[in-house]
Amino acid sequence: MAFPKGFIWGAASSAYQIEGAAAVDGRGPSVWDVFAHTPGKTWEGHTGDVACDHYHRYGEDVALMKQIGLMAYRFSVSWTRVMPEGAGAINERGLGFYDRLVDELLAAGTEPWLTLFHWDYPQALYRRGGWLSRDSVGWFGDYAQVVVDRLSDRVTRWMTLNEPQCFIGGGPEGRPLQPGWDPSLAQRLLMTHHALMAHGKAAQVIRARAKRTPSVGWAPCGVTSHPATTSERDIAAARQRTMTVVDRDLWNNAWYADPVCLGHYPESGLAVYGADVPQVMPGDMELIRQPLDYYGLNIYNGQPVRMSADGRPEKVARPTGFAKTAFHWPVEPQSLFWGPKFVYERYRVPIYITENGMSGSDVVSLDGQVHDPQRIDFLHRYLGELSRAVSEGVDVRGYFQWSIMDNFEWEEGYKQRFGLVFVDYENGCRRILKDSAKWYAGVIRGQTTIR
Ligand code: FCB
Repeated sequence: MAFPKGFIWGAASSAYQIEGAAAVDGRGPSVWDVFAHTPGKTWEGHTGDVACDHYHRYGEDVALMKQIGLMAYRFSVSWTRVMPEGAGAINERGLGFYDRLVDELLAAGTEPWLTLFHWDYPQALYRRGGWLSRDSVGWFGDYAQVVVDRLSDRVTRWMTLNEPQCFIGGGPEGRPLQPGWDPSLAQRLLMTHHALMAHGKAAQVIRARAKRTPSVGWAPCGVTSHPATTSERDIAAARQRTMTVVDRDLWNNAWYADPVCLGHYPESGLAVYGADVPQVMPGDMELIRQPLDYYGLNIYNGQPVRMSADGRPEKVARPTGFAKTAFHWPVEPQSLFWGPKFVYERYRVPIYITENGMSGSDVVSLDGQVHDPQRIDFLHRYLGELSRAVSEGVDVRGYFQWSIMDNFEWEEGYKQRFGLVFVDYENGCRRILKDSAKWYAGVIRGQTTIR
C-alpha cells in the first residue's frame, strides 16, 4: 500500500447533523433549525432536534472511535451553541460541551480536527444580512476567537469553512440558506467574497491567538472532472474543467481556491461571470490569501469529460447501468486520483481528503449485525485510487471517511445512511458498528492491504 508512514486515518461529522440537543443548554437557532422546521423542506419533515443525540452520547461515540482505531476525528462546532445570537453573548455551557468532547478524544488517543463552520449559520445573523453583509467577516472572526481562545491549548488542527460551494448554493443542488430565498448569481458571488474573507480572517485569528502551533486549512468541495479516456487530450480537458471556471454557476474550485491560494480571482471566472463579479476593495485579497498548512478536499464523485473536436472540455454521458449509491450518486473512484492530483499540481499545498464515503440502504440483519459490503467495496476502490495518487507524487497526508455515524443528511433527513456506525433511531439511537467499520479498522492497523 502506497500510503506514507504517518498517514492520518480519520472519520468526520458535523454539529447539526449529529449533535441533537437543539434547544439544550442555551443553544440558539441556526438557519438549518428554521429550514428543517419549515413544512415540506426535508424528507418526512425530519429535523436535527435529536439527530444522533451525540451531545449526550459523545462518550460512547469516542469509545467507538477508539475501538475502530481512528487516529483523528473531524467535527464542527455549532456557532449558535457557543454564541446563541451569532455575535455578542458567549454561552459557557455550549463551550463546555466542546471542552468535554476534546478532552475525551485526547484521552482516547484520537486527535481532534475542528471545523469552525459547517453550514449551521446563526439565524440572528442571517436576519442581519448573513453572508451578504460585509459585517459577516467580523462576526466570523469574533466567533473564531471565542473558539480558539477556549480550545487551542488542546486543539491544533483547524478548518475554517466546509464547502462554501454548497452553503452558498453554487452547485446543481444549491443548498437553501433560507426557505423561499433564492439569491441571484451576483448576490451569491458577493456572499462568496465575504465567506472567503471570513476564511482569511479566521485563519489570521487562529495564527495570532492559538496557544499551540496551529495547522490551518479549509475543506471546500473538490469539484472533480476526470478524463473519459486515458488520452492526453482528455486528461487536459479534465484538468481544464477541474481547475478553471467554465459555467455560470458556482460549482467549481478555482473561484474559491485561486483567491485563497494565489491571491486573485481566476481570469476564467472573471470572463464567465462578467458584470456579476463583486467589487474587490483594497486589502480584500491580502486578507483572503493567508498561508495554508493544508488543503482539505471533500470528494464523492466526479464528472467524466473529453476534449471536443474544437478544443473545449465537454461532459461525457456515463455508461448505461453505471454504479450508484443509495443517494444515486455515481461511484467514481478515479475522482480520488484526479481531484487531488489536479489541485496539488496547481496549489502545491499538502492535501487531506476531509470527506469521502457513500450512503447505503443499511439495515440490521437477523443476526443483529449491519452488513454493508457495498461500502467496503466503495472504500476499497476509492482508497486504491488515492494510493495511486500518492505513488505518483501527490502529497496526500490523510483521509477522513464520511461519516463516523449515520446522521441527518440535510434535506434528505435520516433517509441516507453514510455511517461506519449504524444509528438505530427507532431504538433510542443505539449504535452498532457496521462491517465497514471493522474493515476500516483493519486498514488503519495495516492488516488490510489496499489493492
Ligand atoms: C457533504 C457535506 C456533508 C455531508 C456529505 C454527504 O457535501 O459536507 O455534511 O452532507 O456531503
